[in-house]
Amino acid sequence: MSFGTGKIWMNGTLVDWADAKIHIGSHVVHYGSAVFEGARCYDTPRGTACFRLDTHMARLYDSAKIYRMEPPQSKSDLHAAVLETIRANKYKACYIRPIVYRGYHTLGVNPLPVPVDAAILLWEWGAYLGEDCLTNGVDVRVSSWARAAANTFPTLAKTSANYANSSLIKMEAITEGYSEGIALDTAGYISEGSGQNLFLVRHNTIYTPPVTASILPGITRDSVITLAKDLGFKVREEMLPRELLYIADEAFFAGTAVEITPIRSVDKMPMGNGRRGPITEALQQAFFDTINGRLEDKHGWLEFVYEGEPRAAAVAGARAARA
Ligand SMILES: Cc1ncc(COP(=O)(O)O)c(C=O)c1O
Repeated sequence: MSFGTGKIWMNGTLVDWADAKIHIGSHVVHYGSAVFEGARCYDTPRGTACFRLDTHMARLYDSAKIYRMEPPQSKSDLHAAVLETIRANKYKACYIRPIVYRGYHTLGVNPLPVPVDAAILLWEWGAYLGEDCLTNGVDVRVSSWARAAANTFPTLAKTSANYANSSLIKMEAITEGYSEGIALDTAGYISEGSGQNLFLVRHNTIYTPPVTASILPGITRDSVITLAKDLGFKVREEMLPRELLYIADEAFFAGTAVEITPIRSVDKMPMGNGRRGPITEALQQAFFDTINGRLEDKHGWLEFVYEGEPRAAAVAGARAARA
């Protein structure tokens, strides 16, 4: 199945894709008052497995808290609803988009009286920037748009409103012939891409901007840091000057959509030798082997979806023990 087909979960009911509608007067349409997640499940040799769904649900509820939204379901109920929706659609692998939004009531800016609704959409989504980019890398520019300044739009919240900024970064890059833009923060330090975090490698050390650099703290970013340490690499989270982009040996994006995608040039200057670097490749290998279930899941990142699959049985057992 592809985008536009199957069932969507809306406030507890599975509805056909074509019928999953909200009113034009909904608060979210006018004011971007939604928080959401983007997760994936993979078709592994041991069955269909969600990657770090617990962590995605935790970030969703953190985002909702920042915006004083009380989702209609508990975190564990919405988590269970994601699994139920995957099963109902019989997906083996898909992208997972839970969204919590302010619905229909009044159109005053004050969101507090407006009911909070939730939905879960699924669709098949391959390599976000193209399969070939996973090997050959992408050409990017430094965006003329900065990320939101501290104490303006909170970047630790994954809110729809923040994607107005992401859209500006992306449109500028695309119209000028690049795959992506890298935004700086308002102080001029490196922040992130329009929908992915950034890593640089120089002299065998891996660098990534800290959460104070107006980034969304990505779950892939956290996974990359963990895998890099597992592999014995030194990882530093620190404020990074723009010019480090031009003298880095390697660079790559990390995010649920792009997974790990090498960067081969910035502002038309080749990154390192202009090809995917060895540390990027080693991290891609560790990442893809983990998500595809080829490597032991030592961090407990995979949650199997269907009955009879390894972790599904364990989770069902744990639930029964708690009940
Ligand atoms: C702005 C932004 N930064 C970073 C990320 C990467 O986050 P994650 O790895 O949790 O998908 C995303 C993707 O959701 C994003 O939209």
